Amino acid sequence: MSKGRVQDKVTIVTGGSRGIGGATVRRFVEEGAKVVIFDMLDEEGTALATSLGAKVTYQNVDITKEASVSAAVRKVADAHGRIDILVNNAGIPGVNKFAHEVEVAEWDRVFDVNVKGMFLCTKHVLPHMMKQKAGSIVNFSSIYGLIGNIDLPPYHATKGAVLMMTKTDAICYAPHGIRVNAVHPGSTMTELFMKAAESYPAGKQAYLDMMKEKHPLCLGEPVDVANCVLFLASDEARFVTGASLVMDGGYTAQ
Ligand SMILES: NC(=O)c1ccc[n+]([C@@H]2O[C@H](COP(=O)([O-])OP(=O)(O)OC[C@H]3O[C@@H](n4cnc5c(N)ncnc54)[C@H](O)[C@@H]3O)[C@@H](O)[C@H]2O)c1
Repeated sequence: MSKGRVQDKVTIVTGGSRGIGGATVRRFVEEGAKVVIFDMLDEEGTALATSLGAKVTYQNVDITKEASVSAAVRKVADAHGRIDILVNNAGIPGVNKFAHEVEVAEWDRVFDVNVKGMFLCTKHVLPHMMKQKAGSIVNFSSIYGLIGNIDLPPYHATKGAVLMMTKTDAICYAPHGIRVNAVHPGSTMTELFMKAAESYPAGKQAYLDMMKEKHPLCLGEPVDVANCVLFLASDEARFVTGASLVMDGGYTAQ
């Protein structure tokens, strides 16, 4: 019997109920992984897990709350005896306002999910990976963590922070056999992307037109990103750490 690319790897996917996270859950299961979804969308998460069979479970986790994250990670380790892969995918777009209009609570909210939530999941998974002397973490940045654009200023700041967390953690944990990499998707057809489009001051259609223009190839589908996450998470990427993998239909090549 041929082996999958992440055969039997115990994998946590945050924000795995839908969108890019959902596509990642599906691809990992196809390649043999045992996956635990951390999300707050109970209906979608449970339905996805049920549709994929016994290898997938769902846990209600708010990644911005340390008690919620630590209890959920402990439960995964108790159930499986190890944690091989963490996909830090959960994220929100936050408000679409320029800096002088952003309320502190709005700034804090997007940082809470996109940066603090990622830190908390990483913090609680690392001791298990350190004990194993092996592990792979994939952090979701964005092309917006590499370049600017005339929208979502607080979101851009969070995704830049993710890039630096990734590089520093890669160096700090290499001696423990743990790899940490970042993905930088371009516009990908999900609810988050549509929410960003709907909040664009010039209107949804103007946003879609602007984004299509900026992607020479095309806009992305969730599976296009999931395939790149799969490579970085798997042992095929055993020499890759601290890297930024861009999948953006050529947006940032210009
Ligand atoms: N869609 C794009 O165009 C695009 C582009 C670049 C980067 N990204 C990044 O990809 C990742 C996935 O985005 P998506 O487009 O699939 O979004 P999505 O909105 O479809 O899915 C995000 C998931 O994260 C979950 N989530 C949000 N807050 C949470 C919390 N506090 N605790 C647990 N789960 C939480 C949501 O419930 C949802 O299931 C995000 O980090 C996003 O910033 C997306």
